[in-house]
Parts: sequence; structure tokens; C-alpha cells
Amino acid sequence: MSINYKEEIKKLKAERNAIILAHNYQVPEVQDIADVVGDSFALSKHAAETDHEVIVFCGVHFMAESAKILSPNKTVLLPAKDAGCPMADMITADKLRAMKAQYPEAAVVCYVNSSAEVKAECDICCTSSNAVKVIQSLKAKQIIFAPDENLGSFIAQKVPEKEIILWKGFCITHKRVKAEEVLKIKELHPEAKILMHPECSVEVQKLADFLGSTSEIIKKAKEIPEKDIIIGTEEGIMHILKKQSPDKRFYLLSPGLICANMKKTRIEDVYLSLLNMQHEIKVDEDIRVKALKSLEEMLKIS
Ligand code: 13P
Ligand code: SF4
Repeated sequence: MSINYKEEIKKLKAERNAIILAHNYQVPEVQDIADVVGDSFALSKHAAETDHEVIVFCGVHFMAESAKILSPNKTVLLPAKDAGCPMADMITADKLRAMKAQYPEAAVVCYVNSSAEVKAECDICCTSSNAVKVIQSLKAKQIIFAPDENLGSFIAQKVPEKEIILWKGFCITHKRVKAEEVLKIKELHPEAKILMHPECSVEVQKLADFLGSTSEIIKKAKEIPEKDIIIGTEEGIMHILKKQSPDKRFYLLSPGLICANMKKTRIEDVYLSLLNMQHEIKVDEDIRVKALKSLEEMLKIS
């Protein structure tokens, strides 16, 4: 007999006193059974504020880890055990310490797409929705920004009074978008607006009408009058965009905009996660306390 995952998840959720958080890039079935679907910032906030005993995080490892840092007394589960973020793996705490030694006066800001060990080395975290605000809030003139070079370059343009020292990491998904693809799709849909994530490379960013986090893109798509919209971020976002504005036409900027790690979580994994209480995220307490400071600083100013 086949399992009715939706029904079983609902029952298990109540039994376990669990909340399901899902990132905007998750597959439609997973988004549809989640209690909250959002960008990295909104999901961190929910993780910090929820009263539920169990958080099932449908996303990638650094997101579930941030939830555990913020809510240490809760059980945080990552349904797809090996869902990681290649960008987060492009930096280690040791390498960041070496860079800090080179720039002893600099404040250190890290994108949430990083490990707990890296967050523990930073003064403050940011997401793509609050990065500019975070940088503007700092007294230091010189700032190390890690690990996303493209988001860092976007911030550097918005806050020219700061000297931003960039770590050379990137999102392998957004980096696939080429400027020629943007020009080609724009030719096919000349009236369309291009809404894009700042993880895209700088030359591609220049061709966007709007740059923002996934939730900012969703908000913008609703607000603008245009019916044709080109989307420059991971394709999972199309589900919520189409649901929100069925009268609009959305075009994915590039077929390469698929994050294999975000696609690892299936509805069966969510069910198994709640059934077997797997895969639990643990963070070393010394590291957690230091990383928490960076995340709390971000929540304070956002
Ligand atoms: P946001 O949803 O915060 O924009 O993050 C995008 C992303 O790439 C997450 O891995
Ligand atoms: Fe990491 Fe990019 Fe995938 Fe986000 S979309 S999880 S930044 S690889």
C-alpha cells in the first residue's frame, strides 16, 4: 500500500510538535507541505522564534545549522543528509583566520552561506536581503566579506564609502548564467523585467532591472505591473511565483539555474525525517556560542 505522505507528515508533525521550514528553492511538493516557505533570513528568524520542539529544515546544511545555533534546545533535522552548499565549502575557518591576520583592522562579515566554524570567526553575518544594511551598520571602514564574491561586489557598489575585501567564493548555480543568455532572452521578451539574485556574476548583474534575495524577488514580481518577468535565480522559486501571480508569465533566465543540493529533499525524506527523527544537526558548543553572536548581531539590525 502506498503511503499518503501529506497525511502522514501532518500526523507526525503534531505528534512531534514540529515545524517544517522550507527554502524558496525547494521542490513544489516540499514547499506545499511546509509551514513556512521563505528566504534565508525569514527562515533564520522563524527558527529563532518558534515554540515548536522540532524544526525540520528543508534546505541545505548551513541553513539547518544556523537554526540549531539560534535554537540550541530544539531538535533540528535536515531531511536530506548530504544537502550541502558548494559555496559554503569554499571557505574554512583556518583560511579565514589567515586573511584576518593580513587585515587586522578590518571588520569581518560573513554571508550565512557558511559553516558554524566560519561564522564563529566573524563579527556579524548577513543574508542577501540585509547585506547592504549590515555593512552600513559597521563603524570599520575596511571590511572582509566572505565567501560570496558576487554578493560582495554588489554590496561594494551600494556602499562605496567602505573598502570591501572580497573572498573569492561563488554559487556554482548562479555562476552558470552567462551575459549572452540574458541578452538572448531579453530579445525574445523585450517588454519583460529581469529580476535577479546578486549571487549572479557581476557582468550579469549589470543586465538586471532588480537585484535582491529570493523573497525580495517574489515581492517585486507581485508589485510590478509587467506581465512578463525573467527570473535570474534558482528554478524552485517559479512555483511560488506562479501561485502568487497566475496571470503573469515567468521565464527562467537560464536552464542552468538548478541547484542540485536544493533538489535533494523529497517529500519522502521529510516523512522519514519526522518518522525516524533523522538527520539531527549538532554543533560543538564553543563554536555555537561564537557563531550565535554573529547571527544575533545580524538579527538585531535587520
Ligand atoms: P536567499 O533565499 O536568502 O536569497 O538565498 C539564496 C541562496 O542561494 C540560498 O542558498
Ligand atoms: Fe549554495 Fe548556490 Fe545552491 Fe544556494 S543555490 S545552496 S548558494 S549552491
